[in-house]
Amino acid sequence: MENNSFTRILAIESSCDETAAAIVENGTQLLSSVVASQIDIHERYGGVFPEVASRQHVLSILPVVKKCLAGAHMSLKDMNAIAVTSGPGLAGSLVVGLNTAKGLAIGANKPLIGINHLEGHIYSAWIGKEADSLSDFPLLILLVSGGHTELILMKDHLQFERLGRTKDDAAGEAFDKTARLIGLGYPGGPKLEILAMEGDENAFKFPIAKLDEEFDFSFSGLKTSVLRVVKDIEKKQADLPVADIAASFQKAVVNSLFEKTILAAQRFQVKGIIVTGGVSANKALRERFDTVDNFQVVFPAFEFCTDNAAMIGAAAHYRYLQGAFTNLDIDVQPNWEIRAA
Ligand code: KG4
Ligand code: ZN
Repeated sequence: MENNSFTRILAIESSCDETAAAIVENGTQLLSSVVASQIDIHERYGGVFPEVASRQHVLSILPVVKKCLAGAHMSLKDMNAIAVTSGPGLAGSLVVGLNTAKGLAIGANKPLIGINHLEGHIYSAWIGKEADSLSDFPLLILLVSGGHTELILMKDHLQFERLGRTKDDAAGEAFDKTARLIGLGYPGGPKLEILAMEGDENAFKFPIAKLDEEFDFSFSGLKTSVLRVVKDIEKKQADLPVADIAASFQKAVVNSLFEKTILAAQRFQVKGIIVTGGVSANKALRERFDTVDNFQVVFPAFEFCTDNAAMIGAAAHYRYLQGAFTNLDIDVQPNWEIRAA
């Protein structure tokens, strides 16, 4: 694929609880990025409430797009295309971003590019890098977010083969559910991480299920073991050692993610590893991968681990070069899987 044609893309992301817009040049250079988080709103419900999320997107989306364009001192006419997350995610949330992008594309007479959110998470690793960095394939992707946990072999730009996935909860979901069990609020991942810093990671042995499929994951048994420990301690009316539980849980998740990733990296003789998605913000996970010296391991910049539009603009660069423009009559795809090679 030819990589020297210039693109400047306005990207929109609204698949879950962040309303975001960004302007990205050539898939790597960020000119402007705005993320309006709904965390304060969903905290009251202890999780993302889909109808509330979509209505909040309705309120936020135009101010977010305007702020993003103003941040780069640009207007729609300066863009080559409008990109938008069209799946996977919450249908009602996706619709808001998609319809806004359609309106902007029609109004400004620009092509529309529907982007897979998971593809976006993968391309978050390229933001701020040199255009020709990470260009040795195959790469192994560990994608760990609130909705997904997947090991993906990336054979070239936009060429993906899924090697394994979670059989039940996603890693981020396991963090969120365990956080709730020990009385932490939403979103649980970052809160649990902070608490774990004060705990003993060897205090409890939380087992990770062994699976027949080498590269699949399972985290629901782990959550049940945490629940059992919590119930036992509560029965004894003893104080819950929440920091020790958090640290031991985090260690079990990190071990499982790390071991399978390294196994797959060796098996497929990859040229590098990218760890991405909301859970890639986790410091214990980052430190564990710091110990690897026979593979280059790349994490996105911290602010691009969780949902943002810059990553959608980065992926859209490659789809633009491919000519993968989207018809204006497309619908959202809430269950869209990453494209198989
Ligand atoms: O990628 P993301 O923003 O949204 C999805 O596409 O799902 O990921 C959000 C998930 C949540 O489950 C959140 O608890 C988790 O990522 N997360 C973390 C951390 N930061 C976010 N999990 C563990 N440690 C963190 N520091
Ligand atoms: Zn995401």
